[in-house]
Amino acid sequence: MVPRILLALLPLLLHNAAAQRQQSFRVTPYNTRVVEGREARLPCEVDHQQGSVQWTKDGFALGYASVIPGFPRYAMLGDASRGVYNLRISNASLEDDAEFQCQVGPKGRIAAIRANATLTVLSGRLEIVNRNWAFSQKCADYLVHTEKHRKGSPLNSSVPAL
Ligand SMILES: *[C@@H]1O[C@H](CO)[C@@H](O)[C@H](O)[C@H]1NC(C)=O
Ligand SMILES: *[C@@H]1O[C@H](CO)[C@@H](O)[C@H](O)[C@H]1NC(C)=O
Ligand SMILES: *[C@@H]1O[C@H](CO)[C@@H](O)[C@H](O)[C@H]1NC(C)=O
Repeated sequence: MVPRILLALLPLLLHNAAAQRQQSFRVTPYNTRVVEGREARLPCEVDHQQGSVQWTKDGFALGYASVIPGFPRYAMLGDASRGVYNLRISNASLEDDAEFQCQVGPKGRIAAIRANATLTVLSGRLEIVNRNWAFSQKCADYLVHTEKHRKGSPLNSSVPAL
């Protein structure tokens, strides 16, 4: 009786063990936007990690170390014991605008996993243009409003704040 129960449970136990070992993303890298000069963080967190983790930039491997040779503004930060391998890019520049990929290598019969994230770097000058555009919009609204007032409509409290 007892051996039969064990035999019946065996496939389930083996299946569970295998399922537990299959590495997966706990936090999958996602597309991120950053303004030039600011800091960007691309997340990558792995459950049941078996293989080594590294990032690639447009297909170029950045290595397994937290300090990335040739990329002084890049660092792989986190906590390997918890499977955290976030990529931090300080002082973002337009040359960081690229397709990044977090790769978790294979180990034995455990398959490799990988996930892409596009980093879009917005020019700092564009941000200023946007801010100026918002300001001119407010000026235009204000002029329309005062023009209406001059023509006789009552001035109300919806004057846009400048
Ligand atoms: C992921 O990025 C790599 C280059 O890093 C590219 O070759 C591949 O086509 C991308 N895959 C997807 C699904 O975007
Ligand atoms: C950020 O990078 C720019 C060039 O892209 C450089 O001129 C500037 O000094 C850097 N700032 C810092 C704080 O490293
Ligand atoms: C206040 O002015 C705005 C713009 O002129 C107008 O759209 C709005 O209906 C006015 N509100 C009131 C309560 O008069």
